[in-house]
Amino acid sequence: MREMREMEMGMVVVMVVALLIGIPSSTNADTDPTDASTLNIMYTSLNSPPLLTNWKPNGGDPCGESWKGVSCSGSKVTEIKIPGLGLTGNMGYQLDRLTSVTTFDISNNNLGNQIPFQLPPNVQRLNLAGNGFNGGLPYSISLMTSLRYLNVSHNQIQGQVNVQFNSLTSLSTLDFSFNSLTDNLPQSFQSLTNINDMYLQNNQFTGSLDVLANLPLQNLNVENNHFTGWIPEQLKGINLKTSGNSFNSGPAPPPPPGTPPATRPNRNHRSGGGGGSSNDGGSGNGGSKSGIGGGAVAGIVISVLVVGAIAAFFIVKKRSRKPATDIEKLDNQPFAPLASQEVQEVKPIQTSSTTSTKAFETPAMINLRPPPADRHKSFDEDDVSAKPIVPPKKVNTAPINAKSYSVADLQIATDSFNVDNLMGEGSIGRVYQAQTDDGQILAVKKINSSVLSNSEEFLDIVSEISSLHHPNITELVGYCSEHGQHLLVYEFHRNGSLHDFLHLSDEYSKPLTWNSRVKIALGTARALEYLHEVCSPSVIHKNFKSANILLDMELNPHLSDCGLANLVREPDQASGYSAPEVAMSGQYTIKSDLYSFGVVMLELLTGRKPFDSSRPRSEQSLVRWATPQLHDIDALSKMVDPALKGLYPVKSLSRFADVIALCVQPEPEFRPPMSEVVQALVRLVQRANMSKRTFGNEASRAESADGEDYTP
Ligand SMILES: *[C@@H]1O[C@H](CO)[C@@H](O)[C@H](O)[C@H]1NC(C)=O
Repeated sequence: MREMREMEMGMVVVMVVALLIGIPSSTNADTDPTDASTLNIMYTSLNSPPLLTNWKPNGGDPCGESWKGVSCSGSKVTEIKIPGLGLTGNMGYQLDRLTSVTTFDISNNNLGNQIPFQLPPNVQRLNLAGNGFNGGLPYSISLMTSLRYLNVSHNQIQGQVNVQFNSLTSLSTLDFSFNSLTDNLPQSFQSLTNINDMYLQNNQFTGSLDVLANLPLQNLNVENNHFTGWIPEQLKGINLKTSGNSFNSGPAPPPPPGTPPATRPNRNHRSGGGGGSSNDGGSGNGGSKSGIGGGAVAGIVISVLVVGAIAAFFIVKKRSRKPATDIEKLDNQPFAPLASQEVQEVKPIQTSSTTSTKAFETPAMINLRPPPADRHKSFDEDDVSAKPIVPPKKVNTAPINAKSYSVADLQIATDSFNVDNLMGEGSIGRVYQAQTDDGQILAVKKINSSVLSNSEEFLDIVSEISSLHHPNITELVGYCSEHGQHLLVYEFHRNGSLHDFLHLSDEYSKPLTWNSRVKIALGTARALEYLHEVCSPSVIHKNFKSANILLDMELNPHLSDCGLANLVREPDQASGYSAPEVAMSGQYTIKSDLYSFGVVMLELLTGRKPFDSSRPRSEQSLVRWATPQLHDIDALSKMVDPALKGLYPVKSLSRFADVIALCVQPEPEFRPPMSEVVQALVRLVQRANMSKRTFGNEASRAESADGEDYTP
């Protein structure tokens, strides 16, 4: 009885806090004066449009006054998103002073003249599409090494592409479509080692597509140009649109002597026909005489990829000795060695699972990462904003959208399921690291025959999993159902599981920062929101735990084992994740996932395992130990993971704790729907950013005692 009363009190407190969280901060923030004056100039250059609410021609505080479309981190402007407002005039000058801007979107307005040379130098997403820009592309784009998304489509840009792409190795989406670009494609396209999607349609390009042959493209549209020559064999397995050109349809020419065989580092490419021996040849590229230069560049790129792959292999091997990682994924990308810098600072990498041939028809948008929805703005620059949310796809009971592998394929890829490749073992089966003959790294889950009744059941499951697409859910690449064996093939995530990150430290794991923890909670909340509220019928995860949350290079979470609920037979009560009603009756619902989610949040907050027999009896069960203290700020500060070394904002911590309290309530009907958890976490991040701005840039590193955020 008393417990019930306390529970009710707790609920009231939580509701009041939730209301408070919703009220925006009224504190005044100080925008960096250079950023502010650059926006002043921009505003007047755009003819001072009233639609840009709160913007001012002089002075003002873009971050503190919430200028329309402007997001900040600390005192710096990080995002300018003002698409579709009918803006006229031009963008102003000295935009290169906006050194912290990572997203710049002024698409679908009526701007004219040339695109200015001075642009935000560190921008990751640059969208100038749908305006009236004419003239050429500014050469300054060549220096934007952080660029991942470049869209200048639907303008009147003319002439040769005179941008050098040699340094744009992060670029994954390039859209030049519907302009008046001419001449051959630049040789430096060969350096785009991370490119997924390229849209060149409706221009006047000439020459061949040979420079694109060895790029890890998934989508390529070159329609309605003046291209000639042969379509490279290597491009034939991808989503390719080529009509409206003058391609040669005869048999492909033999490779010129001395050209190295084509490599397709990122795609599982059929090597039948001429594919395996086709070349990257600049030879067909009318008049371009850079055969040697191009070959050398390709050689360097290949070496980097090989070295990267070897390094990745060893690092992964090292990490994968640890238990509990269920599935990992593939990052096909040369990368900075993990140990050399703080993991959070590793250059963001666009991970395109780039899995296989057309057998795996992921909708193109999956990798496009469009701008985040409004509710998800002004996140911390390093931690959250880099990962916009893709609108979730509805589940349908479509046929299987995944590649079918043979047992022989997977045997070769895992070295006959060698224990050296064993990454983890769960109740459903063992997970092996696999490497395909083209160097792609995958995770293969070998389902125990005891948990499956028959192959039809397996294929039903595969069909369901293959229809799940969300940026925070581990993507299924393929499957194998042959000779009584049942295997699932997933993308591979290089940073292992959250469980490993929190509980198994070695020389490679740096403690997760507070912001990373919040980001992981929010990402996995979104994954569950997708399963529960977007998929129809709802998908219950049933086995939500930190070992099933895999982290990529940017520490974005990817939930694994989605859609495998039917195979989870026994509730693992000793794990500490099971909701009380599951322990009592074995009844799983979406609300039992909520409970498990709360337990993972507790893990993030405390750094403790959900059940730890090495601790004193009263502290063994994390929920039992932690829950009574969640609304007590002093107790919280003692519970928080010592690995954080006090570097967290107190308010953020207590709001995080409030969300946990909602999730781990013993009565399932009191636990909120996942979308409410997502909203609460979004508000938490937004508030954290506001207080960050108030207290300046780096003050946030040691926010534990900052004024606004500390309530005695
Ligand atoms: C580029 O912008 C245009 C105009 O907004 C849009 O239609 C197109 O889909 C964008 N391209 C990509 C690849 O996002």
